[in-house]
Amino acid sequence: MLEGKKILLGVSGSIAAYKAVFLLRILVKEGAEVKVIMTPSATDFVAPLTFSVLSKNPVFVEFSAPDGNWNNHVELANWANFIILAPASANTIGKLALGLCDNLLLATLFSASCPVYIAPAMDREMYISPSIKENITRLNTQNRIIIPAEDGELASGLHGEGRMAEPEHIICFIIENHFKSLPLYGKKALVTAGPTYEAIDPVRFIGNFSSGKMGFAIAEELAKNGASVTLIHGPVHISAHNSSIKAISVTSAAEMHHECVTHFPGMDIVVMSAAVADYRPAAQANSKIKKKDSALSLELVPNPDILSELGKMKKNNQLLIGFALETDNELENASGKVKKKNLDAIVLNSMRIKGAGPGGDTNKITIIDRQNKTTHFELKQKDEVATDIVNYIIKWLKK
Ligand code: CTP
Repeated sequence: MLEGKKILLGVSGSIAAYKAVFLLRILVKEGAEVKVIMTPSATDFVAPLTFSVLSKNPVFVEFSAPDGNWNNHVELANWANFIILAPASANTIGKLALGLCDNLLLATLFSASCPVYIAPAMDREMYISPSIKENITRLNTQNRIIIPAEDGELASGLHGEGRMAEPEHIICFIIENHFKSLPLYGKKALVTAGPTYEAIDPVRFIGNFSSGKMGFAIAEELAKNGASVTLIHGPVHISAHNSSIKAISVTSAAEMHHECVTHFPGMDIVVMSAAVADYRPAAQANSKIKKKDSALSLELVPNPDILSELGKMKKNNQLLIGFALETDNELENASGKVKKKNLDAIVLNSMRIKGAGPGGDTNKITIIDRQNKTTHFELKQKDEVATDIVNYIIKWLKK
């Protein structure tokens, strides 16, 4: 779930800084991209080089960088999907609570609008002292979330509350907290993408220009919003990044049909953006068809209409969205497909609009629902179009 996430790890001066090394290792193993900011006193406990080697990034301590540039706290804060302050010393917690800002880490924390997870670490008497407790309580605001310290043996030899939560516990806490708050958490989504290839003989096929970019972008956006996604795709040259996406690769419409029908029953959201071939050769030659001087005719037979079949299987609690690629009478044809295929909505692409349709990086869509309500969108990059489609889905589910 942390795959591809951009995480800032803030380390302040505490002996628990050594545990931040293990935390960093887990985050990197999980596929997160991590940058580390240390307070000057944290560098007394662990050398910045340790974090630099493990994160494969430079470590930030001061505002001024060794190359004469400066480390921009606002850029660092904006880069992150979220920040983990672990360990959070009593001093750093106090400054954060009071609005004091005398180092790069604090300046970055104050510049952040993303969630900031704070894992306090200190000795027992410090942790329970009223003023520090008050500071911790004051920090627990909307985007600052406290990961409570744990009970156990402390570096002082005392026993009690105050030791920083174990790295594995920090990860579990964040996953629960962060992902549960996403709008599509717990939802299962099925997306189809790309073309299908219909074999003529062992070396030739009938295909189309679909790149799969639109469907892959939708799958990524659904996953980013917390859904677990099954992506059934034809032959493409791209791959999915988010670990919440299970990709199933197929070649022909018949294979896509089989996978879709198998996976459909457990799904909450289904978006069919694949450019499925409507026809396939009636017979596939076992050996390569030899060239002749005369014309060659191929008999084509219809493929199953996967979307129509899913429309027949659809239960009331399943949201089914199709795509329509049209060259003329766009709105009429697309809204006709909504009813004919028993869809909740259809995403219309018009081939008449420059920059829309298969192959390219941009698209311009109109979404039409069963009541014929149309929502128009501007020409945008396909990942922005995917955001529009997924926002539409989120709104729909809230209805
Ligand atoms: N589709 C499908 N199975 C097919 C053909 C299309 O599941 N054999 C789906 C597409 O994934 C898309 C929708 O049906 O979501 C509409 O596809 P489109 O090609 O626009 O329409 P068709 O139904 O094939 O009709 P036509 O080609 O005549 O416009």
